[in-house]
Amino acid sequence: MSAQPAPITLNEISWPDYQGLDSFAKAGLFQHKGRPYHALLPQQFDRPMLDRIEALATMIRKIAKTRGGMNYLQSLLSEKRAMLYFAQPSTRTFLSFYAACQITGLHCAEVRDAHTSSEIKGESQEDSVRTFSSYFDLIIMRHPAGGFAERIAWMLSHTDRPVPVINAGSGKDQHPTQALLDVYTLQRSLEKRGGVAGKKIAFVGDLARGRTVRSLAWLLTLYEDVFMYFVAPETLQLGEDVQALLQSRKVSFTLTDDFEAVIPEVDAIYMTRIQDEWDTAHESNLIDTSKFHFEERHLKMLRPDAILMHPLPRRKEIAPEVDADPRAKYWRQVRNGMWVRTALILMMFDRDTEIDRYYHDLTRD
Ligand code: CP
Repeated sequence: MSAQPAPITLNEISWPDYQGLDSFAKAGLFQHKGRPYHALLPQQFDRPMLDRIEALATMIRKIAKTRGGMNYLQSLLSEKRAMLYFAQPSTRTFLSFYAACQITGLHCAEVRDAHTSSEIKGESQEDSVRTFSSYFDLIIMRHPAGGFAERIAWMLSHTDRPVPVINAGSGKDQHPTQALLDVYTLQRSLEKRGGVAGKKIAFVGDLARGRTVRSLAWLLTLYEDVFMYFVAPETLQLGEDVQALLQSRKVSFTLTDDFEAVIPEVDAIYMTRIQDEWDTAHESNLIDTSKFHFEERHLKMLRPDAILMHPLPRRKEIAPEVDADPRAKYWRQVRNGMWVRTALILMMFDRDTEIDRYYHDLTRD
């Protein structure tokens, strides 16, 4: 018997067969003509795409400085509409996507509380999202269930009105657009030292349930010679699946619980919050995690050219007294999220080359 041909598009594969694919095979189904059609998994971004998003975000940031530039940006997607469907709380991701829609002229609507939609009458979430696709050209969604955005993209691909889907955070598994803005922040902040390549980067805190860590660790494998430290209590250490992925990419990393030993060693520290909302009975909720907090006294231990990051929201992982230090980059991450998400949306709608032309004219002598 000859082997079945590989599926080419999402609408040619059954849901059980889709679920049986690895992340790389799935990611291939989300691309269209070399650009993301959906944005669902970090594995669908390769290094040229990251470099492109970085360049676009920087051009957009500069174009947006003037009224004329902002008027131009707002003309780019003024014929499109986006739905922001956030079935889980969010401040930064929701607002930065909302702002990205405003910057590009995309008209948007939102459902953030299922109690205000017909889900309260028993409508399934799949039917809700299918309804959105009747009115909107893009669905940006956050959901507590891992893989739900993929399920929606697959479901819509089997209808007569498929629209692109962006994963704005799914369960404990992935937060790809956060990883994009994190990489952008790392590249910008470490620019004078050649960017991310060759750097030592520490992830600290709840690495078992932090979806931002899972997504960012993958994207960092696309840069040469990055060494990663995963700093956490044993019960919150990085999942074996991510470790296996890093090993398969021949990435050097170490697991440790000695945060103070790691601080002077690294070029960047990525702090994370204890994510106890996922599992109130988890054994780690009873342990003291204060030795995984970055205190003001730690600033003396941090290299003068190192940076401190956090996807936010924070609790006590970083003392507020640290905020004024120029190495603290988490508020810059917040702002960068808006530019990177704007760049991603323009790329998905194939409008990014217009940015190249406008920027070229703007900066021409
Ligand atoms: N970093 C992040 O996802 O923040 P929000 O939960 O506020 O969107």
